[in-house]
Amino acid sequence: MPHPQKTQRRAAGAQKESVRVLITGGRIQKRIQEMARQIRRDFPDEPLHLVSVLKGGVFFLTDLARSIAGEVSFDFIAVSSYGQGTRSSGQVRLTRDLDSSIEGKTVIVVEDILDTGMTLDYLLRLFQQRKPKHLRVAVLLDKPERRLTAVRADYVGFTIPNEFVVGYGLDYAERYRNLPYVGVLLLGSGSKKKP
Ligand code: IMP
Ligand code: MG
Repeated sequence: MPHPQKTQRRAAGAQKESVRVLITGGRIQKRIQEMARQIRRDFPDEPLHLVSVLKGGVFFLTDLARSIAGEVSFDFIAVSSYGQGTRSSGQVRLTRDLDSSIEGKTVIVVEDILDTGMTLDYLLRLFQQRKPKHLRVAVLLDKPERRLTAVRADYVGFTIPNEFVVGYGLDYAERYRNLPYVGVLLLGSGSKKKP
């Protein structure tokens, strides 16, 4: 019998889906501890303001925030760029703004994945106009092969190949976000889904 999280059959007409583990929950947690220490080393005495992108960045934010020593606050922003599938629409739209001003703050943008870079490019332009003291980017995953903009992250958890991944916040049509690991989404008869 297949593991229930590994193989799921969708409703009538839908494709068979499965997830192949790429990065275990244990490796994710260990790497986040290292990233937290590195961020604190870079800003030893400053309050850090983490700004995460809903909804994919939430798990990374909560684990990262609890691992950084000293004063930490956080806030959320929401953008929409992807539709229901695995392909980006290429357009980024702000759907929820931050609650508080970032002026004069040391801001770390916390994102699940850096893919084409369209989302971060948009957000960094927006945030820069608001005059933070420092503006840095932390991403759990980086897919450099897909980049369409010059944007880069200051802190990268894992560099991954060009495959569509789910879990640990990342979704496929809003599903799989709750997986404690990151896995490659397989659609149909075991073939890889290329976005
Ligand atoms: P970008 O704007 O192309 O860099 O994409 C950023 C956003 O696209 C991420 O925050 C994700 O929400 C989504 N995304 C990109 N690649 C993947 C993937 O492999 N799986 C799930 N979502 C993805
Ligand atoms: Mg996202």
